Amino acid sequence: EEIKIFAPATLANLSCGFDVLGCCLDNVGDEMYIKKNNVNQVRITRITGQVLPMETLNNVAGVAVQALLENLNSTQGFDIEIDKHIKPGSGIGSSAASSAGAVYAVNKLLEEPFTIKELIPFAMEGERLASGNAHADNVAPALMGGFNLVRSYQPLEVVSLPSPPQLRVVILHPLIELKTKDSRSILKQSVYLKDAVSQWGNLGALISALYTEDYELLGRSLEDKIIEPVRSILIPFFDDLKKVALENGALGFGISGSGPSVFAMCKGDTVAASVKEAMQLFYQEKGIDFDLHQSEIN
Ligand code: HSE
Repeated sequence: EEIKIFAPATLANLSCGFDVLGCCLDNVGDEMYIKKNNVNQVRITRITGQVLPMETLNNVAGVAVQALLENLNSTQGFDIEIDKHIKPGSGIGSSAASSAGAVYAVNKLLEEPFTIKELIPFAMEGERLASGNAHADNVAPALMGGFNLVRSYQPLEVVSLPSPPQLRVVILHPLIELKTKDSRSILKQSVYLKDAVSQWGNLGALISALYTEDYELLGRSLEDKIIEPVRSILIPFFDDLKKVALENGALGFGISGSGPSVFAMCKGDTVAASVKEAMQLFYQEKGIDFDLHQSEIN
């Protein structure tokens, strides 16, 4: 029996929630085909769309599945095929999609020894391989859907949050590859108290806005005094692009995950479409190549 799954792209950090907040995109993602084999090995048998490591322990999906099987003491083998649509190093959770997708499918084929939430730590092993850090802010929403908050890493505690129904996101990916490992290595390891105060004020308000469907509050809360000033330097015309998005009605704008993709949160499809068009025109004028997505959060 082979199963086919959609492994969604995700948007991590959401400005004020570095490493703790993420949400799941509705219509951007990879397709994966997974089946049991009888050779007692986890094999990556085919990857189309991107050139990625095929050796099991060098592949995020392979490592995540291996972690799951070790936990069960299982020697069952699996063959994994990935049609990769998310570009690695784009900042929309490419590695997370593969890791989360693989453990989700394997859990299904094993008749669900784990709940979806229990799969998060296994998928995090894929993130450890990809970025040197087992962050959960992409894999948790990839598995659970919607918005998710990582309340604690040790022990791991993930909280699911509601998605305001009219929320839309526009994602622009400047076609440069930025490895999470590299965009983490430039971050400072300490923060000023006044910046921390602003960050947790924003994060608390953003969570409240998700529950109350207060789109304006959500927009004001998409602010980041700590990470964005450092990482935005790597993104062409970041400040101008932000201005363009906000002037055309976006609620808020920031870096998607570790970049270089950027996101604009919008209320409703009409605003999202005009924000998308304005961002597109701006980058075309600057002569920069990019991909563009517009999605719901589910
Ligand atoms: N929270 C992670 C980071 C997400 O910003 O490095 C990486 O996709």
